[in-house]
Amino acid sequence: MNMRRLGRTDIDISPIGLGCMQFAGTDNYTRLIINPINQETATSVVRAALDNGVTWFDTAEMYGKGRSEETLSTALRQCGIAPGQVSVATKWTPHLRTAASIAATVGDRLKHLGGHPIALHQIHSPSGSLSSISAQLKVMARLFREGTIGAVGVSNFSARQLELAHDVLAAEGVTLASNQVRISLLHRKVEQDGLLETARRLGVTLIAYSPLEGGVLTGRYHGDVSLARSAPPARRIFSRNQLSDRGLARTAPLIEAMRRIGEEHGATISQVALNWLITRYGDTVVAIPGASRPGQAAEAAGTMSFRLTESEIRTLDELSLI
Ligand SMILES: NC(=O)c1ccc[n+]([C@@H]2O[C@H](COP(=O)([O-])OP(=O)(O)OC[C@H]3O[C@@H](n4cnc5c(N)ncnc54)[C@H](OP(=O)(O)O)[C@@H]3O)[C@@H](O)[C@H]2O)c1
Repeated sequence: MNMRRLGRTDIDISPIGLGCMQFAGTDNYTRLIINPINQETATSVVRAALDNGVTWFDTAEMYGKGRSEETLSTALRQCGIAPGQVSVATKWTPHLRTAASIAATVGDRLKHLGGHPIALHQIHSPSGSLSSISAQLKVMARLFREGTIGAVGVSNFSARQLELAHDVLAAEGVTLASNQVRISLLHRKVEQDGLLETARRLGVTLIAYSPLEGGVLTGRYHGDVSLARSAPPARRIFSRNQLSDRGLARTAPLIEAMRRIGEEHGATISQVALNWLITRYGDTVVAIPGASRPGQAAEAAGTMSFRLTESEIRTLDELSLI
């Protein structure tokens, strides 16, 4: 599958990247959402992603205050990847901070990334900061102009906030590269809330996070519903509608269709879930599945070796709305 342009930047990325929240360690909130992994496993995960065509990695300050960034940079070094050879995206944490902290903390990001440049720096959330969105983007624009970061992105922004971010940056002569949001076969809000249409119009890439809904879209819970009770605690709470016996029964026909369609391509259920994302929305959407094992990272990257047909996409579209 061809590489994708990140927004209107000159950065090319693989349609599938690797989400690195799983690298954040055990002493922070992320362990409530994902199963954390150690350095050795993280290095194997990164190696599996690289070996199967992944060219970029998404991390964040919030993932263990630099721990995920550090684990990623160590993994890349252990895999023999030199700075600049792959693209690294990270994020600034806005909570209870002013815009000035973007510039004040970018050095920490670079330090944790161990020499790997920041290809994309993102505002993690539109809320929580003591400064306006405009003020935050102006600092990002300055860092871009100075060459400290390669591109500017946002995360969890609504259509209206995206428009504002785009306009503020445009006035500074800078392009808005991306908005990282939750999109999956079971979470298609972007089609209704104007975000997809706005991103397309503005030439902004949507980076789909939690594209496997934490494993629901791999079929693993449908195969053994009792497994849902061992999902990480925050997933059990926030995804309770998906993980309940009733929720799993509701999505069983979708998973069954994904299995059948996958067989046509020699692909797994999770690969069908990811392929739907990077095919259904054209070039606008790329995805960053997370992995806690190298086999999962290889499987996710393997998604890039086939393409669902239009009729298969339509079938999945219909079943995912039931
Ligand atoms: N910007 C934001 O606000 C935001 C929010 C959330 C996430 N993110 C980013 O998005 C990335 C991905 O999201 P996510 O980790 O929440 O969800 P996800 O990609 O939907 O799910 C990843 C989890 O699914 C399981 N899995 C993956 N491949 C599998 C396979 N082939 N078979 C069975 N299980 C499989 C693994 O869990 P097990 O360990 O249980 O096997 C893995 O940790 C994160 O790493 C992070 O970088 C960003």
